[in-house]
Amino acid sequence: MTIEEKVGQLQQVDGMPDTGRPRDEHFDLARRGLIGSLMNVRGAGSTNRLQRVAVEESRLKVPLLFGFDVIHGYRTIFPIPLALASSWDPAAVGRASSVGAAEASASGVRWTFAPMLGVARDPRWGRIAESSGEDPYLASAMAGASVRGFQGDDYADPSRLLACAKHWVAYGAAEGGRPYNAADLSERTLRSIYFPPFKAALDAGVGTFMCSLNALNDVPATASPFLLTGVLRGEWKFDGLVVSDYKAVEQLVAHGVAVDPADAARQAIAAGTDMEEMSRLFGQHLPKLVADGKLAVGVVDEAVRRVLRVKLRAGLFERPYVDEGRERGEILTAGNRAAAREVAGRCLVLLKNEGPVLPLGGRHRSIALIGPLADDRQSPLGHWLGDGRAGDVVSVLAALRAKLGEGPGATKLAHAKGCEIEGGTTEGIAEAVRIAAEADVAVLVVGESSEMSGEASSRSSIGLPGHQLELVQAIQATGKPTVVVLMNGRPLAIPWVADHVPAILEAWLGGTQVGPAVVDVLFGEVNPGGKLPATFPRSVGQVPLYYNHASTGRPATSDRYTSKYIDLPVSPQFPFGHGLSYTRFRLKDLSLDARRISQDGRVTASVVVQNIGDRPGDEVVQLYLRDEVASVTRPVKELCGFERVALAPGESKTVRFPIGPAQLGLHDRQMRFVVEPGQFRITAGTSSEGGLEATFEVAD
Ligand code: NOJ
Repeated sequence: MTIEEKVGQLQQVDGMPDTGRPRDEHFDLARRGLIGSLMNVRGAGSTNRLQRVAVEESRLKVPLLFGFDVIHGYRTIFPIPLALASSWDPAAVGRASSVGAAEASASGVRWTFAPMLGVARDPRWGRIAESSGEDPYLASAMAGASVRGFQGDDYADPSRLLACAKHWVAYGAAEGGRPYNAADLSERTLRSIYFPPFKAALDAGVGTFMCSLNALNDVPATASPFLLTGVLRGEWKFDGLVVSDYKAVEQLVAHGVAVDPADAARQAIAAGTDMEEMSRLFGQHLPKLVADGKLAVGVVDEAVRRVLRVKLRAGLFERPYVDEGRERGEILTAGNRAAAREVAGRCLVLLKNEGPVLPLGGRHRSIALIGPLADDRQSPLGHWLGDGRAGDVVSVLAALRAKLGEGPGATKLAHAKGCEIEGGTTEGIAEAVRIAAEADVAVLVVGESSEMSGEASSRSSIGLPGHQLELVQAIQATGKPTVVVLMNGRPLAIPWVADHVPAILEAWLGGTQVGPAVVDVLFGEVNPGGKLPATFPRSVGQVPLYYNHASTGRPATSDRYTSKYIDLPVSPQFPFGHGLSYTRFRLKDLSLDARRISQDGRVTASVVVQNIGDRPGDEVVQLYLRDEVASVTRPVKELCGFERVALAPGESKTVRFPIGPAQLGLHDRQMRFVVEPGQFRITAGTSSEGGLEATFEVAD
């Protein structure tokens, strides 16, 4: 390979995001071997056309790798990742990824920039929507499931996608929750909180990584030898490719660590960034840097080797083209839509249900459906909507109409928007109040638009936007039983709603089949079993607020001089792991098969979960661990096991959680991962608050 052909492999350029078509110059670049990968080019015809030029007209015939953001679906859109994590069901996450892979691969895409694995402790950060929430253990379980869902056993399978663990790392720890902002974290926090989901993705065989756009401990991730070479290549033996994020190489100049674009290119590739997304500094500067002796050609060769290795593993040399016949048969099929409905149902979280108001049923002869999101077909698709279309979305209004039908015996349905999601006036509230007053029950669908979460969509206030709270208050004042269905991309601070509205259902941004999934739950055809993957604070002033915080020398008590606010309880509105059901469960008989184990030993905790209500339902049994005394301050509790269990009325099941060095270990003062002797406490519960307790000892 000439040096130009080598750096060509390291260059990723952008097609036209809206149409999926390549740009005219791409054909020339492909013919000259000057591009290795494209993003946003999709459609079997488009990718094959360009691939043919690379494979049949270029000197070396190296195939192109087509990448696209298939985050929670391609055309059939599943709930956003934060919602998927609410299922506490790795199989549901795997299913969403594998349907996305089947659809996107039929359309010529071979590589997705997903899953996003950043632990997110700050709900102001818009990209919390793309995360699995605040907990490293839950996020790791979802990371493995998502990678396996995208890649299957072998990403060379033409119906699979090459996955990408992003954004490496601590992107979600951006100060103030502001997009692209710097993060400053101790190495212990990095290794124990932020690294594990990425390691889980690696263990599941993820083929690529993407570095984060921000600086971590004063070094932009794109130019961080510690992250890219030290940890990824050195400690973890990762031999796939690392792609930069969008123009991140170029942005090293704005970060103030590179003097000019050539310096930026040199630093990025020397640190271990193999492929450059969007900016074209590798192509422009690496050949000269090598010629001038400022960069060893071996550094370029190593990056090229990694890119070619991934292309080989993806089977692109044997099968560069996609079967154009697959596209029609694989996309938005009835089966895919049914999967999206079922998965969306598993993601819903019943936050509150006094009365109980839910499920709705025969006792309601008329329903008022109110709110700006009740018939919104765009917002449920979220920020990364792939090739998803609003026209495919079934809104709550449409699903409710279909459910209730028409005719003499049918339950009456009235609908009013009430107000806009944001802005607008309060004029429509009167009509909403009128229809609520005439109905037996009011269902409000309120929350955020898809523009309010995702990339570059951080918020400094996280309440209901616009006039929506006034709308909820006006409906609640009618005295009618009221249900609030929330659609949002982040935990919200909704103290008034939480205190006054009897029933609250968290539906997140639920994708193409959001309406049927919500209606299934409103009427009890699906019993909600989701749990929160991130804490709901009472106020944005409590942020960051997460359950696995460090112990302090003065934990909050009634004493003034303890760790709390003077104007607000220290507790959350809804804790991590919280979620109700239409039936009731009891946990009992927590036991351990050993009370004393060695430092490399294992213990199994067992607990019995029983459905003591009168409907079938799911409970997520959660096991938390606390290291009572250690050489460094430990979290007050940490999730170390969970299982979503389906039980018929009266049925019970014993759930077992193995605990070993992986859960018991910590990074000590010398940053060694060790199990220290001493007492550990476990709590088996149905949320991060409360539960049954037991202790055991790790012997010296
Ligand atoms: C920027 C985003 O940060 C990243 O997550 C995404 O994959 C790329 N753009 C490509 O669209």
